[in-house]
Amino acid sequence: MEDKMTSYDHIKGTTAVYGLIGDPVEHTLSPLIHNTLAGLTGQDLVYVPWRVKAEDVGDCIRGAYALNVQGLNVTVPHKIGVMEHLKSVDEKAAAIGAVNTLIRTEGGYAGYNTDHMGLKRALEADGITLTGRDVVILGAGGAARAAAFLCAFERAGSVYIMNRSTDKARSLCEDVNEYIKRQGPSVDAELCKPLALNACDELPAGDVIAIQATSVGLYPHVDEAVITDDPFYTRISYGYDMVYKPAKTRFMKLVTEHGGRAACGLKMLMYQGVAAYELWRGIDVSDNVTDRLYPKLSEAAGIREDQA
Ligand code: ATR
Repeated sequence: MEDKMTSYDHIKGTTAVYGLIGDPVEHTLSPLIHNTLAGLTGQDLVYVPWRVKAEDVGDCIRGAYALNVQGLNVTVPHKIGVMEHLKSVDEKAAAIGAVNTLIRTEGGYAGYNTDHMGLKRALEADGITLTGRDVVILGAGGAARAAAFLCAFERAGSVYIMNRSTDKARSLCEDVNEYIKRQGPSVDAELCKPLALNACDELPAGDVIAIQATSVGLYPHVDEAVITDDPFYTRISYGYDMVYKPAKTRFMKLVTEHGGRAACGLKMLMYQGVAAYELWRGIDVSDNVTDRLYPKLSEAAGIREDQA
């Protein structure tokens, strides 16, 4: 008890307050990310989770503003609904149609999306850049949407969206291609193509980057993968699984068994938080800091990356 009491000594009258809104929020790792970053970067702030019902989001945003809350993260199910309560929405977040980070500005909050930034930095940590590359995205939900728009922002080569429901894949492709078209006539307006899960033979022959953006394979369903066909994995040179528990998903094992490299989603989770923190605090978080944050996050997530 004594230790717990003293661990709050840093909260003072000057301490800036940040937080997360979502429903549920009980299992979030965001407080660990931001409070650890505050400690490692020596910033006077505290970050707390708030469970907010959908019908209360407007009151919550007005209340947070009145309470001088300096910034918020927004998670499921409020990433879309919160937008109508904001003063402005960043252009890339508007294209994606979802925000996960709010920055306090004069007269209201400005909305950003750091999910695509987190994915970009997680891929870069493995030496992967999407520009000019062929990419296949598995899934067509919210997570796949951030990945598909990142491909558009980064000018990937061709992007294939494979999903169980091909209607949803088609609709996501249309949204991304519309966005590309609005960028000007010189760019390829047909960046994204929808594919059924069994249409592996329509993918390019090799050196494709795969981004696994479904929930299939998530603990405890560790033996599942959305695709298990050899002709898919022989085409993949690198696979990123947005799932981070287990640390080695079935998808990742299939990629590596076929000679590719693979990584789990924990770095994306970390870097979406780091990007939010940088936006809020106007600082760059160094690799030295993220190298110290990552093992703490991994431990809190209950995963061991050396475990098969
Ligand atoms: P998120 O916001 O995390 O992306 P979501 O919007 O619910 O979550 O999307 C989940 C994705 O996982 C969808 O692409 C879904 O496919 P459908 O659009 O066909 O529903 C995919 N998914 C979930 N369970 C699946 C399963 N058992 N097999 C194949 N795809 C699955």
